[in-house]
Amino acid sequence: MIYVIWGAVVPLLLRDADVERLRATIVRETGLVVTSSNRALLEKGVRERIRSSRAPSAREYCETILSRPEELMSLLEWVTIKTTRFFRNAAHFAAIELDVIPEIVRRVGGRARKTIRLWSAGCSTGEEPYSLAILLDELLPSGYSFHIFASDLSSAALAVARRGFYGPNRMNGVSDARRDRYFIRRGDGYIVRDEIKDRVGFGRHNLKLDEAPTGFDLVMCRNVITYLDEQTRSTVAGRLWNAMNDRSFLFVGDSESLLGMDTRFEFRKTDHATFYVKQAK
Ligand SMILES: C[S@@+](CC[C@H](N)C(=O)[O-])C[C@H]1O[C@@H](n2cnc3c(N)ncnc32)[C@H](O)[C@@H]1O
Repeated sequence: MIYVIWGAVVPLLLRDADVERLRATIVRETGLVVTSSNRALLEKGVRERIRSSRAPSAREYCETILSRPEELMSLLEWVTIKTTRFFRNAAHFAAIELDVIPEIVRRVGGRARKTIRLWSAGCSTGEEPYSLAILLDELLPSGYSFHIFASDLSSAALAVARRGFYGPNRMNGVSDARRDRYFIRRGDGYIVRDEIKDRVGFGRHNLKLDEAPTGFDLVMCRNVITYLDEQTRSTVAGRLWNAMNDRSFLFVGDSESLLGMDTRFEFRKTDHATFYVKQAK
């Protein structure tokens, strides 16, 4: 099968060898596993990138990718799964409200600066950190403040997150009261109010390779490690551990677990949800 791009004839399908090289590069640089089910996405992405980068063939495109990190990042936009939503997994938010925040508030109460630091690692288009910000704004007693670092590999997702504009179909999970309090109607959608946006700092961060900031009281890294290879999962667990304060909290996705990994995180199950606690001492 052939495919005509800018007047040139290029093979439509990638050869298995090309796919293997791309897969190996992607896993080496990000830990992301390109499974057989998202091979189609990878091929679509390569076709699109060949079109926009005007590479003469799939093989030459693969060579480009091996030598240009920014081209790899553009291709990754096609293979990263960015599904998310506001207040995703209500049980987690119930546990944060009823189990976690009261404990953090007690502990932070002893600090000179009563600022709580949170990290949404793999935040996609921003719904997760904004949900956290809304919850903390509602819950924290006066005299306390908080800041959320929200990071992702995908620049496209981060651009959406920074803008903070969501169409009506993406507002599921936000109650009418919260929508009216924390969003402004803009055209056919809603934009997050500045008072919430200002609490969240977005940044590009690769969980596999980049050093992370430290001093977090609560970390959410949900529905991210499921897409990573085993070695990277361990790297990420270690990175999160190093980024967290002693006796701080970690939430991973419902279908994810640190079980079987070489970590010292303590598993905790409450009436509301399960999560992990860093007990360093
Ligand atoms: C399914 S979304 C999860 C969004 C949100 N945490 C949630 O649970 O709703 C997974 C996100 O992880 C990001 N991701 C994948 N690999 C990553 C890596 N190595 N470093 C940082 N982010 C990564 C993807 O770009 C994507 O936005």
